[in-house]
Amino acid sequence: MSTPASVLDAALEHAFTGLREGRESFAPKLTPHEVGTITSISTGIATVSGLPGVGFEELVRFPGGLLGIAFNVDEKEVGVVLLGDYEDLRAGDEVERTGRVTDVVVGEGLLGRVIDPLGRPLDDKGPVPGNERWPVERPAPAIMDREAVSVPLQTGIMVIDALIPVGRGQRELILGDRQSGKTAVAIDTILNQRGKNVLCVYCAICQRASAVAKVVARLQEKGAMEYTVVVVAEGNEAPGLAYITPYAATSIAEYFMEKGRDVLIVYDDLTHHARAYRELSLLLRRPPGREAFPGDIFYIHSRMLERSTHLSKERGGGSLTALPIIETEAQDISAYIPTNLISITDGQIYLSPTLFELGVLPAVDAGKSVSRVGGAAQRKAYRSIAGDLKLAYSQFAELETFAKFGTRLDDSTRRIIDHGQRIRACFIQPESQPVAMAEQIGVLLALSVGLFDKVPLKKVAEGVRNLRGAAAKMPPDVAARLSTADKLSDADRKVIMDIATLALAPLQPPPPPKPAAEPAPEKKPAGSSAPATKPAPAAEPGPAPKPASAALPQKELATKPVVTGKPADPPAPAPKPAAEPAPEKKPAGGSAPTTKPAPAAEPGSAPTPASAAPPQKEPAMKPEATGKAADPPASAPQPAPPAKGADKPAP
Ligand SMILES: Nc1ncnc2c1ncn2[C@@H]1O[C@H](COP(=O)(O)OP(=O)(O)O)[C@@H](O)[C@H]1O
Ligand SMILES: [Mg+2]
Repeated sequence: MSTPASVLDAALEHAFTGLREGRESFAPKLTPHEVGTITSISTGIATVSGLPGVGFEELVRFPGGLLGIAFNVDEKEVGVVLLGDYEDLRAGDEVERTGRVTDVVVGEGLLGRVIDPLGRPLDDKGPVPGNERWPVERPAPAIMDREAVSVPLQTGIMVIDALIPVGRGQRELILGDRQSGKTAVAIDTILNQRGKNVLCVYCAICQRASAVAKVVARLQEKGAMEYTVVVVAEGNEAPGLAYITPYAATSIAEYFMEKGRDVLIVYDDLTHHARAYRELSLLLRRPPGREAFPGDIFYIHSRMLERSTHLSKERGGGSLTALPIIETEAQDISAYIPTNLISITDGQIYLSPTLFELGVLPAVDAGKSVSRVGGAAQRKAYRSIAGDLKLAYSQFAELETFAKFGTRLDDSTRRIIDHGQRIRACFIQPESQPVAMAEQIGVLLALSVGLFDKVPLKKVAEGVRNLRGAAAKMPPDVAARLSTADKLSDADRKVIMDIATLALAPLQPPPPPKPAAEPAPEKKPAGSSAPATKPAPAAEPGPAPKPASAALPQKELATKPVVTGKPADPPAPAPKPAAEPAPEKKPAGGSAPTTKPAPAAEPGSAPTPASAAPPQKEPAMKPEATGKAADPPASAPQPAPPAKGADKPAP
């Protein structure tokens, strides 16, 4: 029997049937697969032939998975920008089309991550979650989908919030020479968004890796990474990557904006971006224009910044605020790229190396800075206070130059300069320490009302610290009204004034006592008046003239706090006086001072000019000292000159 043979036959038959069925049911589909070849390679660029169907900005894939963007599409040749390491590519290698454009992963999972523009993780937290990918180049929202900027974006940097306010949805350029604090301003703004429901994207373009690491470390340390995405193209990478980075970062930010969130994006910095694009364009043989930049350099930045806006309610009401950074060379803000960006954005914050060297940090040059739309977004209460300061500060900036020549200045000029110096001193703020809005209002109100005018310049910083500490403890209902109310009510204003007066009292030097007394004299003596309690900043100074009346004055002072004292009118006599008076005023304001009163002090100054100087200092600390001075007071009534003297000491 051939059992084994028949079994084998059956098995074979079975197998062949299966194969036949499989073969018959197979219907091959044809998919076109365009493959070209590399004809040449240069820095960051490859020219490819044989891809007739490739589209503009389509991604193509090289051996090893390297991607490139079809950037110059000619009939016979395609110029491709390479997005990565191209060392292993050779002429003759195969290139295939992918049929898609450059895109990047978007989503909530990106918060807290550091990625490259293609969405690959640069931190050690593993693959980036999220399955939604958005193209890096997207059209900007249409005009009808936009709304006016109406909500402030608090930077926490006093000089900016007060003088150059930024609104949500605005584009505000930060420019300045290298090492002038540009990155610091942007990072502080990100830090200040903590708890304010604003998400942030920090986009580093060709920065030193160590600088980026420092920024990430600072964000982490201050707890800002939880609401921040960092997108990085390192300096040593292909220029193509640097070129797409800000677009990719914008898409990531837009995702959140379209979800109705408020987003802040920082481009640090677009100078490097422009250079990367110039490099690519030159290699692609596009005709160079001014400064060798290609003709469409303006367009690449404007189409990116146009994507920042405030969406209408129908579109979710989200906003994207952009802080592009530009590095100038030798303070030349009228160079090609800076002027382009200035004209694209809604204002600029200029950081001056001169101020930086003087230690005025952040080195914001208020004269060359402007915010074209942010003012409308400022909170009303805040605006009512900051408005005066802007004027006072710009007057000061104008006059300061004259003062440098040692010109003899009249009283009112002197006063403007003294006041301006104090405004500037109040705006000095260390890095990474954003100031809350209630605290800012406390400081700005004290400034605009003249409370700081009585504080010696050297102690202004201490005064700001005291005042901020006190303002932070402001009654919560008042603090809440500051950000909602249409205008600062008189009652709230008084609460803040009291807090400020109290906080500054200890710093107002010599003050109080008798000078106050003089007040009476004030009237008489033209020049001086002791400032009384009114906060009014402008108060005139008057150095008190005659001491004798001391007793009265005190009372008066008590009532009226303010007094600028500085400027006495002219009289030559005693320089000191001016100084003293100033203190008085301060005390007056503060309750404490009043009590102390070493009365005579002020007057004293007036009288004895020479001696006065030294005493001043002492008095500052202890009122008693003043007492000595007092004696003299009787004598000298109107020391006009003193003003100058006084100033000097203060500083
Ligand atoms: N407000 C500030 N107070 C103190 N130091 C500051 C302040 N702002 C910046 N700096 C310091 O100035 C240097 C330059 O700042 P950076 O932001 O890196 O400048 P840029 O980005 O313009 O090159 C840094 O060392 C930084 O710590
Ligand atoms: Mg920087």
